[in-house]
Amino acid sequence: MSNWLGLSNRTAVVTGAGGGIGKAIAHELSANGVHCNVLDRDSDLVDATVSEIFESGGNATGYVCDVTDEAGITKVAASISSCDVLVNAAGLVRPGALADLTTGEWNDLLKVNLTGYFIMAREFTPHLISSGHGAMVHIASISSTNPQGSSGAYSVSKAGVVIMSKQLAYELGPKGVRSNSVSPGLVRTPMTEAYYQVGDVAQRRDAAVPVGRVARPIDIADIVTFLASDRARYITGADIVADGGFSQTLMSTVPRPGFGD
Ligand SMILES: NC(=O)c1ccc[n+]([C@@H]2O[C@H](COP(=O)([O-])OP(=O)(O)OC[C@H]3O[C@@H](n4cnc5c(N)ncnc54)[C@H](O)[C@@H]3O)[C@@H](O)[C@H]2O)c1
Repeated sequence: MSNWLGLSNRTAVVTGAGGGIGKAIAHELSANGVHCNVLDRDSDLVDATVSEIFESGGNATGYVCDVTDEAGITKVAASISSCDVLVNAAGLVRPGALADLTTGEWNDLLKVNLTGYFIMAREFTPHLISSGHGAMVHIASISSTNPQGSSGAYSVSKAGVVIMSKQLAYELGPKGVRSNSVSPGLVRTPMTEAYYQVGDVAQRRDAAVPVGRVARPIDIADIVTFLASDRARYITGADIVADGGFSQTLMSTVPRPGFGD
């Protein structure tokens, strides 16, 4: 087991750890010697991640909990004796143009993607301060800076996550806790898999990314694991864009006769 990152024997809580990115993060932290508290609202997914971690020789505890259930989160935080790393990855996307969105649909998405992150951050702050080297990593998205149409409050929620993380970095820095966000571009996970099953969408998406492929969850998990470690001790309040260069392609979409094709 590698200990280059110095994470051995630390403890983490990962939300959305039954899903694509959260599960990869839990696996990667575990491979670096971290005891992972695997949190998701889906009990089958929690069980699957926990057993996979044990099968790989790691150590994990599962919690079936909804990040919008404030009392449930408080209970989880109270039942864990220590926590060095908090990763907020539980999230969802729902369709809808803003002009057609009901207030309920708007609130429902923000409740999970933004308020859920906030509740987790607040409830685990005492543990992270006690740790002496606490680190939070929040999964945002490049849609925090590039509006993702027809996705309701999704972009708004992710923009909120980025600035929330920066505020936490400012407020908790003096207490020894770092807070960073990671903004993935296109990642193939259960959340997005249905798109990749349609026609040649998978190939077209790969071709749209300068590095030639959409991300795998491990691409994001590696960054999160680094940010969680003391190797990233001087990084706080940062948003790390991990999109294979996709967000740099805007100017190439402009028709300019004589420049390229
Ligand atoms: N897949 C992408 O292309 C992509 C890109 C950028 C950002 N993201 C973000 O990465 C994060 C992980 O996404 P993913 O692609 O792995 O999705 P996913 O659907 O595979 O995983 C999300 C997990 O979160 C859990 N979850 C959802 N709502 C919850 C709640 N209220 N309480 C507890 N758990 C809940 C789900 O059960 C699921 O296991 C999300 O925040 C998502 O917005 C994904």
